[in-house]
Amino acid sequence: MDRILVIGSSGQIGSELVMELRKNYGNNNVVASDIKPSPQDVMESGPFETLDVLDVHQLHSIVCKYKIDQIYHLAAILSGKAESEPLKAWNINMDSLMVVLELARTLKLKKLFWPSSIAVFGPTTPRHNTPQHTIMEPNTVYGISKLAGERWIEYYYNKYGIDIRSIRYPGLISYKTEAGGGTTDYAVEIFYEAIKQNAYECFLKEDTALPMMFMPDAIKATIDLMETDAANLSLRSSYNVAGISFTPNDVASEIQKHQPDFSISYKPDFRQAIANSWPKSIDDSVARKDWGLTNEFDLEAMSAKMLSEIKAKLG
Ligand code: NAD
Ligand code: SER
Repeated sequence: MDRILVIGSSGQIGSELVMELRKNYGNNNVVASDIKPSPQDVMESGPFETLDVLDVHQLHSIVCKYKIDQIYHLAAILSGKAESEPLKAWNINMDSLMVVLELARTLKLKKLFWPSSIAVFGPTTPRHNTPQHTIMEPNTVYGISKLAGERWIEYYYNKYGIDIRSIRYPGLISYKTEAGGGTTDYAVEIFYEAIKQNAYECFLKEDTALPMMFMPDAIKATIDLMETDAANLSLRSSYNVAGISFTPNDVASEIQKHQPDFSISYKPDFRQAIANSWPKSIDDSVARKDWGLTNEFDLEAMSAKMLSEIKAKLG
């Protein structure tokens, strides 16, 4: 059984991915790590290491200590936060990737996962059914770092044969861990505020369509991609994954089916310009063909689950 290190295990994706990987690979074979503690179930079900991914020596010693075969490198600063600290975001997003790539090369690790994002696209990209290969001129620091990262992972595959795999995640929606400062975070906040206040003030305009995905589908896609035979992969940059496209108005209407008095108001901020530069919908036919991408949840099923889980969580 391969031994896996997850970097960024306290975040929105890491906190759920670790638990799923532990089910598949065994608790002790999946080491969680982050600069801050992870949720209780992650901390208590297997090994956890406090790690700043930019600390090359510490990362090296953790990889050797646990005889790690695969790394899932999730640590990053997301789109909204990155705009307030562009150089820090570039430093964390890019330098950490280079550290992990070099470690994989020198220690001959078996496999890496590094997520990209719909943020690699920009205002000149076709916004409907955005193809896998198209114009990519991102205008956010986060998008620029993800596009540069895609070029680097492909380079390391071509030059050194490192088996690194990647998904351009759409906005991810989950109820376990709060979203970490992205432009798509409204689609998580809205469910919390629906339960807490029966009202929400949205930082994007009502008709802003973006691609999104419910976390169980994103975790399944990630593990499916990592477990597919390498021969199935026709590209080594990052795969488009479409999920479901909807607007804030669509989510509000869905919530109103459960809570007819729920009200929404709109006060767009700087994140509106970021959202305006991203695709409204994505063509993920290459991922479906290469490694059998599927997703289970539509907006209706996801909204029902979000509301019931958050209600239970908040008591
Ligand atoms: P998040 O912000 O919730 O979690 C990131 C984690 O990284 C945090 O727990 C943070 O403490 C940790 N971290 C930050 N700096 C670190 C450092 N120097 N060393 C170690 N850990 C550090 O983010 P997320 O939503 O879980 O996203 C994970 C990855 O997926 C990121 O690369 C992100 O760009 C990508 N992604 C996320 C989404 C989404 O909607 N959540 C969409 C597209 C891509
Ligand atoms: N959900 C992410 C963000 O908004 C997309 O990568 O930053």
